[in-house]
Amino acid sequence: MEQIRKGQRLILFPLPFQGHINPMLELANVLHFRGFSITILHTNFNSLNPSNHPHFTFHSIPDGLSETETSTKSPMLLVSCLNRRCHDPFRNCLANLLSDDGSEEPIACLITDPLFNFTQSVAKSFKLPRMLLRTGSVTSTIVYAAFPLLWEKGYLPKQESQLEEPVVELPPLKVKDLPTNSCDPKIFLQLITEWGNVIKTSDGVIFNTSEDLEEQALLTIRPDFPIPIFPIGPFHKWFPTSYTSSLLSEDESCISWLNTQAPKSVVYISFGSIAAVNEAQFLEIAWGLANTNQPFLWVVRPGLLQGSEWLEKLPQGYLEALDGKGHIVKWAPQKKVLAHPAVGLFWTHNGWNSTLESISEGVPMVCMPISCDQMLNARYVSDVWRVGLQLEKGIKRGEIEITIRNLMTEKEGEEIKDKMSKLKEKTNLSLREGGSSYQSLDGLVNHILSL
Ligand code: UDX
Repeated sequence: MEQIRKGQRLILFPLPFQGHINPMLELANVLHFRGFSITILHTNFNSLNPSNHPHFTFHSIPDGLSETETSTKSPMLLVSCLNRRCHDPFRNCLANLLSDDGSEEPIACLITDPLFNFTQSVAKSFKLPRMLLRTGSVTSTIVYAAFPLLWEKGYLPKQESQLEEPVVELPPLKVKDLPTNSCDPKIFLQLITEWGNVIKTSDGVIFNTSEDLEEQALLTIRPDFPIPIFPIGPFHKWFPTSYTSSLLSEDESCISWLNTQAPKSVVYISFGSIAAVNEAQFLEIAWGLANTNQPFLWVVRPGLLQGSEWLEKLPQGYLEALDGKGHIVKWAPQKKVLAHPAVGLFWTHNGWNSTLESISEGVPMVCMPISCDQMLNARYVSDVWRVGLQLEKGIKRGEIEITIRNLMTEKEGEEIKDKMSKLKEKTNLSLREGGSSYQSLDGLVNHILSL
């Protein structure tokens, strides 16, 4: 294999889940605006629509997943299958791209997700530099990296009796805030340990965060991860939100409905692309919303309620009784929704993208974390940045009503709104010339060109 020449083309390969695709495509746009040509690789599973991004080149990787594999409810299981199946097709695709006849710019670097661990050896065999996009927060990365220690100290696997206890090594986290996953805890520990090593041996890590938001976490992580680290977020605020990378079609009726509502009056509810609730929780959410008497926009993603098609489990007459106060869709243009002046509150599961999108628009949060890193993101929202409240007593209609009222109309809500507007300003300022993300992006561009 010929030595790779320095060039201006980047290959980006996202993990095929919405919460990972969005930041990778946003990063692609950021780097495209800084002069790089972009090639996106994507698996057949959750494949991307090239017509949404006519300024990029797309190549699909045949993943060979069976229907049983793609219908698993465990994202980690799917990740393991993809790591086994994609090695050879990825290698072939990369070989073709690298042996290009010269009609395209030479490739400077591969940027991929740390969970795609097979890309490490393949990139190495082609002597292709490989950077990683970590789609979660820096804090969550520190917590995952501490997994072996957390096991040794007995915090993990979590015991029911210890959930409220503090994790003294990682304040202000409690045991219940530590990440969980549906797979076997020992297998999870092994995957996470490998994942930490994969990050440490990369040519650098890009984070969708800013120094201003996670200053302390960045100070902590740098000595443990002695590789270049680039916090250049929030990615989506670098360019206008005209591009979509949604796997489901975005229901634009949200925006015309929001246009009819008073400023800051609407509660927006969405639990991201994977989280699911049971029927009892679904009904508590529905009644909690109706009882607040506040207008609401609710994303009920097909699959949100296990075993149901869509809204058929809502009580008869529920929608009619709302009398126009509620608007329910299958998938929303979330970034546009959060930026709409009618939205006053975001009831979220605290996936990192949703959390960051809410902060960027200054929308206070009701936190209802479900799994993965969501609990620790929620702890930071409620206890560190103090820009939201958690449903601490669970998903109960009374608790929902009180929490929404506290945030919308009470003094506690005023303080939270004030903190949120300051955090929004600080976070978005980091993208301005001289700001921390602005400088870090300059550093990233120079780093890529030096690889
Ligand atoms: C997953 C994990 O759950 C999350 O904890 C991790 O940080 C990333 O991977 P997900 O659950 O989908 O992600 O949540 P989140 O990170 O919030 O990403 C969801 C994305 O989908 C956001 O960019 C959001 O804007 C978008 N979205 C969501 C829509 O565009 N429309 C919707 O209706 C709902």
